[in-house]
Amino acid sequence: MAKTIPAFFSKELRLLNANDRSVVEDIVDDYPDAIHSSNCDGEIVYANKKASSLYGYPPEELIGMSIYDLYSNPERTHVGLNKLIKLGKLVVRSKIKPKTGEAIDVIVKSYALYDKAGDYVQSFSVLEDITEHRKFQRELANSNRLSMIGKFAAGIVHDISNPLTIIKGVGELISEEPRYKEDMTLQSNVRFLQNAVNKIQHYSRRLLDLPNSRISAPVTQLCLVEIITEALAMTEPKLSKLKINVDSDMPLDCLVDGCMHQLEQVFINILTNACDALTDSSDRKISIKITVCDRDGIEGVVVAIADSGIGIPAQVRSRIFEPFYTTKGEQGTGIGLAISHEIVSLHGGSIKITDNQPTGVVFEVFLPKTQRQQQAS
Ligand SMILES: Nc1ncnc2c1ncn2[C@@H]1O[C@H](COP(=O)(O)OP(=O)(O)OP(=O)(O)O)[C@@H](O)[C@H]1O
Ligand SMILES: [Mg+2]
Repeated sequence: MAKTIPAFFSKELRLLNANDRSVVEDIVDDYPDAIHSSNCDGEIVYANKKASSLYGYPPEELIGMSIYDLYSNPERTHVGLNKLIKLGKLVVRSKIKPKTGEAIDVIVKSYALYDKAGDYVQSFSVLEDITEHRKFQRELANSNRLSMIGKFAAGIVHDISNPLTIIKGVGELISEEPRYKEDMTLQSNVRFLQNAVNKIQHYSRRLLDLPNSRISAPVTQLCLVEIITEALAMTEPKLSKLKINVDSDMPLDCLVDGCMHQLEQVFINILTNACDALTDSSDRKISIKITVCDRDGIEGVVVAIADSGIGIPAQVRSRIFEPFYTTKGEQGTGIGLAISHEIVSLHGGSIKITDNQPTGVVFEVFLPKTQRQQQAS
């Protein structure tokens, strides 16, 4: 790319020799944030290396491109540019459309440059990519929300459990009465009532599982295969009812540190979701694979649970870890994955979702390897 020194520097740089000028160019070019400059027609006249990599365009395509094609919202870009020309400096939150992939959240700091007559000639913008930061903020908000709900829920569940026990007991007493056997309406009403109570008890037990921003039991060294075997046993009724074929590839020596009950819950939630996703499928398969890996310098294990179900569309995928987000109507509470995400985070791990081929999804749960094992080896 032919290096173009933005007009902003020209006056000062005229005083510098070619060598010094090249140093300044290199500083701007290597700057960790994206920097671009656009002329009064809104055409990009300069872009540093980071701008090229963040926007996904090679430098030759970027130069001459309109800023209206770069930012996601042309109207807001127009309003922003007019404000910048008036004020001389502007900081806004915006989104850019990279050449491929999803929009990127950025903080844009822009500076307007004017000629001697005071007419606007060029602007100079520094763009900070805040996608990761926003993701972290969303996760933190979900986690705080979950833990707050967890604390309230524990109190409510405790308070409703006594009247529920009474209602259940009354149902049982009625069913022991002599006329119960002859009265079909009474029988169906009592069953209706008992079903409703069972449902409330089921939901309230799930609410009790909400983590309160902490691991719920002492951390011990656990064998991952044991956790998954237990989770498979808990989901067995659903798996066999739907005739789902489960194949697994699990080395026995993968150890992690954590709380058995909580980690088991993670895999029960993922397996249960996989079963639900397979309900209408003709080819009902779940495969479980454990591999050893290194993520961001942390040694760990990945449990990949793949199903051949309906899959998750992009607009649903971005919300599945939100507490109470469900696509299952009355059949779902929408807390399974929110809880799982929270538990895995509390254990220092992460969950990733990818598409399975030809259909379905793969949930990859990463957990750090046990500290004890690492020290011993
Ligand atoms: N394997 C999967 N295939 C397709 N969609 C899935 C899968 N796993 C999760 N989902 C989607 O993610 C949503 C959220 O899942 P989550 O487990 O949190 O709640 P839920 O299953 O709806 O209710 P519950 O609280 O009873 O688990 C589901 O409603 C579903 O749309
Ligand atoms: Mg679920």
